[in-house]
Amino acid sequence: MMKSSSGYIRRICLAAAAIAASALLSGCERPPVDTVQHGFRGTGMVQVYNPRILIPETYKNVVPDPLPAVPSDGPRAREVYKNVQVLGDVSAAEFTRLMVAISAWVAPNEQCSYCHAPGEDFSSDSMYTKVVARRMIQMTQAINSRWTAHVSQTGVTCYTCHRGNHNPAEVWYRSPLHPQATRALGNDAGQNKAAASVGLASLPYDALRDYLSSDPKEIRNNGPTALPTGNRSSIKQAEFTYSLMMHMSDGLGVNCTYCHNTQNFAKWEGAPPQRVTAWHGIRMAREINTAYIEPLTPVFPAARLGPTGDVAKVNCATCHQGAYKPLYGVSMLRDYPQLGRVTGATGATRAAAPPPGVLGRVLFDTGRSDLSAAAKAEIEKAVKAAMADASVKIALSGFTDRTGNPQANLDLARNRAVAVRDALTAAGVPVARIDMRKPEFVIGGADANSRRVDLVAAR
Ligand code: HEC
Ligand code: HEC
Ligand code: HEC
Ligand code: HEC
Repeated sequence: MMKSSSGYIRRICLAAAAIAASALLSGCERPPVDTVQHGFRGTGMVQVYNPRILIPETYKNVVPDPLPAVPSDGPRAREVYKNVQVLGDVSAAEFTRLMVAISAWVAPNEQCSYCHAPGEDFSSDSMYTKVVARRMIQMTQAINSRWTAHVSQTGVTCYTCHRGNHNPAEVWYRSPLHPQATRALGNDAGQNKAAASVGLASLPYDALRDYLSSDPKEIRNNGPTALPTGNRSSIKQAEFTYSLMMHMSDGLGVNCTYCHNTQNFAKWEGAPPQRVTAWHGIRMAREINTAYIEPLTPVFPAARLGPTGDVAKVNCATCHQGAYKPLYGVSMLRDYPQLGRVTGATGATRAAAPPPGVLGRVLFDTGRSDLSAAAKAEIEKAVKAAMADASVKIALSGFTDRTGNPQANLDLARNRAVAVRDALTAAGVPVARIDMRKPEFVIGGADANSRRVDLVAAR
């Protein structure tokens, strides 16, 4: 009895140790990793990524098919319904279409009853979820119309953050472990707690409160003057800055070189244009939190609040979820222009119309990466545009459709991008003006437009 039970305990311990070891190791990235050039050769501007991590990340970022288009004429929603405060100007048909889409994006199981109590009139505001949703619609419209310096024409919808969940998967709360809360135990400066938010490093784990909320601190290591006249640039502040930078890299699935020329982190000259986009993103995230989400705190039930009574807030990962562009740059807003100020057709037009800045779109047969005559003509067009303006760089992204094996799709998408690159260089476009984008594939729909390479004018 004794013997067998101790053997049993030993087995459990061994199993626990094995689980602990695999949990630890899962933090490391098993080689081989892949790299793509992201700037001039010899400058170390290289993006490193791991294809095994990229595959699940990509599947997290597949967009749902748009709902069929409906007429935008006819009576307005405010003429038909009683309590439409935000979407009053859209047609009643578009309003209903949007309600159906919102249900799928935020509450696929409960559908309408998640925001409208069954048996009650739809105009009632009795459920807090409806009150939050109304503000979220305004927030989404503000992001899409006022923050194009960050979200461009791609924009966001509820799906960008929610992805079929009531609560977005990536949010942040203030930490109860913050130094102010643990004074009695000594001030650890908010460090050494191995939080996942800072890659388990000993960096401050509650840095976002200093940067992505009200009363933000300056994001810099170096003081603006040679001597510390009034500025408090210190090692501790540098550590907080690095926490934010770890979060930004992790949230976008990129390395520091995506936004910095590592010769000099502080210098803007020579840094990739993505750094400017990120600068606007920081200001946008602050506004989302302070103007829209934090004021909703009293509306949320206590169970939804964090350990210090604050509401779940947005960071870079809330939208990006590990991708350099949320949903790898696919614009769902084009199909739901009511959530922004974007004009144009609604409905299943996404795959047909290339996004702005696209110099060309090369299509491929299923499973193939060789260039057809039509593909070569399309490449010719892009070569002309590149030759006419020496400041144009061509960014290449390969795509596959949804069908087939993920690893094979990754290879296929890369091979397609490489085939186009080789055709460009053969036509005389210098390699330095071609930017192979990481990741080099996105899973599109199952139609012919998904099997493609986009040639995009890079800044
Ligand atoms: C995530 C929350 C949410 C879900 C899910 C949702 N709605 Fe709504 N609904 C709202 C909000 C917010 C408004 C008010 C919009 C405004 O003020 O502009 C609204 C308003 C309405 C109105 C107008 C009522 C009136 O007379 O003022 C109708 C009708 C409606 N919804 C139908 C539906 C239907 C049908 C579904 C399911 C297919 C649905 N809603 C799902 C949030 C939701
Ligand atoms: C920029 C990201 C973002 C976008 C875009 C966004 N939301 Fe949210 N939403 C959040 C965050 C953050 C919360 C708070 C989550 C929590 O409490 O865990 C939230 C909460 C909610 C809740 C309350 C959920 C609950 O169960 O407590 C509803 C309802 C909601 N959002 C609806 C919407 C609708 C409808 C849209 C589109 C019109 C939308 N959201 C767009 C980030 C976003
Ligand atoms: C997505 C883009 C992006 C990524 C990735 C990124 N940074 Fe930054 N970094 C910025 C921006 C933008 C600023 C300036 C922020 C501001 O002024 O509001 C900045 C500022 C800094 C600063 C402060 C420079 C000064 O003026 O003192 C340092 C240091 C820095 N980053 C280091 C890093 C490191 C190390 C990494 C990788 C772990 C990294 N960054 C990843 C965009 C990025
Ligand atoms: C509300 C959602 C949202 C949030 C929050 C957000 N972003 Fe973005 N970001 C986007 C969208 C959408 C795009 C794509 C714009 C486009 O297609 O050009 C984007 C693009 C970018 C790009 C440009 C990528 C490229 O290759 O051109 C960078 C860099 C970036 N975001 C950094 C950040 C950082 C850093 C944060 C946090 C401080 C952040 N973003 C927060 C929605 C968001």
